[in-house]
Amino acid sequence: MMNNWHRVRPGAFAFSEPERAAFYRLVAARRDVRQHFLPDPIPEEVLCRILEAAHRAPSVGLSQPWDFLIIRDPATKEQVWQSFARANEEAAQRFTEKRQTLYRTLKLEGIREAPVNLLVLCDRQRRGPVVLGRTHQRQMDLASCVCAVQNLWLAARAEGIGVGWVSILRRQELRAIFSLPRHVVPVAYLCLGWLSDALSEPELERLGWEQRSPLSAHVHWERYTSAQPASCASAAFQACDPAPHRRHFPCAPLPSPTLRSSKNPHPTSIHLILGGAKSGKSRYAETLALKQGGRVAVIVTAVAADEEMAERIARHRADRPADWTTIEAPYALAQAVANARAAFDVVVVDCLTLWLSNWLLLETGWHAPQAEPPKGRTFAEERAALLAALASDGAPTLLVANEVGLGIVPGEALSRRFRDEAGRLNQEIAAIAPKVTLVAAGIPLALKR
Ligand SMILES: Cc1cc2nc3c(=O)[nH]c(=O)nc-3n(C[C@H](O)[C@H](O)[C@H](O)COP(=O)(O)O)c2cc1C
Repeated sequence: MMNNWHRVRPGAFAFSEPERAAFYRLVAARRDVRQHFLPDPIPEEVLCRILEAAHRAPSVGLSQPWDFLIIRDPATKEQVWQSFARANEEAAQRFTEKRQTLYRTLKLEGIREAPVNLLVLCDRQRRGPVVLGRTHQRQMDLASCVCAVQNLWLAARAEGIGVGWVSILRRQELRAIFSLPRHVVPVAYLCLGWLSDALSEPELERLGWEQRSPLSAHVHWERYTSAQPASCASAAFQACDPAPHRRHFPCAPLPSPTLRSSKNPHPTSIHLILGGAKSGKSRYAETLALKQGGRVAVIVTAVAADEEMAERIARHRADRPADWTTIEAPYALAQAVANARAAFDVVVVDCLTLWLSNWLLLETGWHAPQAEPPKGRTFAEERAALLAALASDGAPTLLVANEVGLGIVPGEALSRRFRDEAGRLNQEIAAIAPKVTLVAAGIPLALKR
């Protein structure tokens, strides 16, 4: 007799490629959030969806030992914050003097800013004294509650809601504040709110407290190896995460979230042109625009911060055909692109990398002398708006960007961030652009056609 499994091919029950890509993107985009909360309330239907995701977590013996305590009262939050402040002072003193200085600069909670606080509890008596799966490992009920937290964390991120886990709290104080009976244990104190900014990397990494390690350093084969587990890893595992600071799942495609919601998920008219400095990338874009014909708009992002730059900009402008329209957009690129794509026959954006640089410099307090920086908008919002403008119908658009990451690792943080953000931006645009070309030494090399 033939078993059924002979007829099922491996992967038969896998999700579709875009679904898997969206899932891996979600996992990579989830962050612990402490200081990027909007004060806007979270509608109850959204909260309900997030809690439903938590409630679908695996649990030992299907015991579902969790309970969710929702806190919105500012007076209660204040009590918890006071408790945090006491514990945090004790915590600071446990680190060496040098670490202590850095520790004290870290913001490790968002209790008062987050519109919703949530206490995830574990009822250690749920389903009675003998529970399937807890007979030999009693703590599996706590592990189940942590699974619920992780489901919640991911669901919230998918909704655009940030979650921060605050564990610098004395359990006894939480017990007193929330009148918890003895058998109910606080597992996680969480702060939830709409995101005002979406960090692409863990904040503790960005602030130099800790570094993320590569997956291959955590994988053991057959036996536990204390020394360098990476040395046992197959080439596939090592290739999967060769760089210690790699942020995304390198093995999975990373489409932009706007891709899913856009009306036009595969705009046929977007062409990303990458290259190094003086590689011929702008000239190539202009040649294509000339070939295309019609009314051409060139959106420029450079600003004349000094005389040399002003001369450069003037030279570029003089080199372009006289009947082309030049639009300056050092910051508000999304709106400029949307307008130009509606009004012209072909649009050239030159270049994305300078626009990114303008935004990053804003964070250091510098802004382009001739341009008023946009008020009340973050770079993350502007970037999302740009992706949406590109994903909509419009004139063919040629986007020029620098491939900056090929050199050595820059010696200071802002340059490293610039390099990383530039690489990420290129990936996001490349994911929605049907055509991508790399120009080197004046020669275009098609990466995607
Ligand atoms: C069990 C647990 C407890 C945590 N407690 C705190 C905390 O008290 N304060 C804090 O700022 N972050 C806390 N975090 C967040 C971690 O610092 C964060 O997950 C880590 O730095 C990685 O960053 P990411 O979550 O943004 O990827 C906690 C995370 C976990 C899983």
